[in-house]
Amino acid sequence: MSGLVRTEPLRGEAPLLLPGDPYSVVVLLQGYAEPEGIGDAVRADGSVTLVLPRAWVRTPSSREPPPWGGEGKTALEEAARGPILVDTGGPWAREALLGALAAQGLAPGDVTLVVGTHGHSDHIGNLGLFPAAALLVSHDFCLPGGLYLPLGLGEEQPLKLGPGLEVWATPGHGGQRDVSVVVPGTALGTVVVVGDVFESDGDEDSWQALSEDPVAQERSRKKILGTADVVVPGHGAPFRLVREASQPESLGNRQLDSVVGEKEPTVHP
Ligand SMILES: [Fe+2]
Repeated sequence: MSGLVRTEPLRGEAPLLLPGDPYSVVVLLQGYAEPEGIGDAVRADGSVTLVLPRAWVRTPSSREPPPWGGEGKTALEEAARGPILVDTGGPWAREALLGALAAQGLAPGDVTLVVGTHGHSDHIGNLGLFPAAALLVSHDFCLPGGLYLPLGLGEEQPLKLGPGLEVWATPGHGGQRDVSVVVPGTALGTVVVVGDVFESDGDEDSWQALSEDPVAQERSRKKILGTADVVVPGHGAPFRLVREASQPESLGNRQLDSVVGEKEPTVHP
């Protein structure tokens, strides 16, 4: 892409709510990763994000298994007509997750689709709360009861969930099968919920060490930076991407992938 992208942390009261049409986004639980102070131990949990279709209305029938007609992609689109949870946090966040859902007026049984960005314990530790939801974990899709259906997801083949709503294959962090969820049309534009493709804003000095495939992850990160207006990372506050047509004079010709934390924005070429 041309031009530069700089990032700005989104501050405000939790949970972060980005109203939109056809989908709103609520970051129910903000992920974190903090040194424990003992060796290299880190205390961490993953972000949990709700994608809520504007058209969704709770009805008794919404709790029924979606019709699917034998096609995985049809079943996925049907499942995406209701509340969608992207990642669930670790099992230690169970009560926090239930409370955050309740604060949005939702019970676990209202969630019709859970997307697990990758198969790490801090991202899919509460799948057991959602036995009535369809599950898309990495590239594996199943309906309630464990009926697995092929989808054909690939880097050049995103999955359509609804109007503009897509799942992208974004390999790298956990291996070849990580996914991200792209949500258009919010008050701040397109939101991409990325799991650990981005650990946090300004993670340029740390993500490679946590990556199974840094080459693939770099590719995934650039793809996301080319589309997102807001990124929900796995272990930090959501951040906004601001695109600039030309290079600011104050940045000169230095390499713009530097990490500058909260005092300055992070800038990506
Ligand atoms: Fe994580």
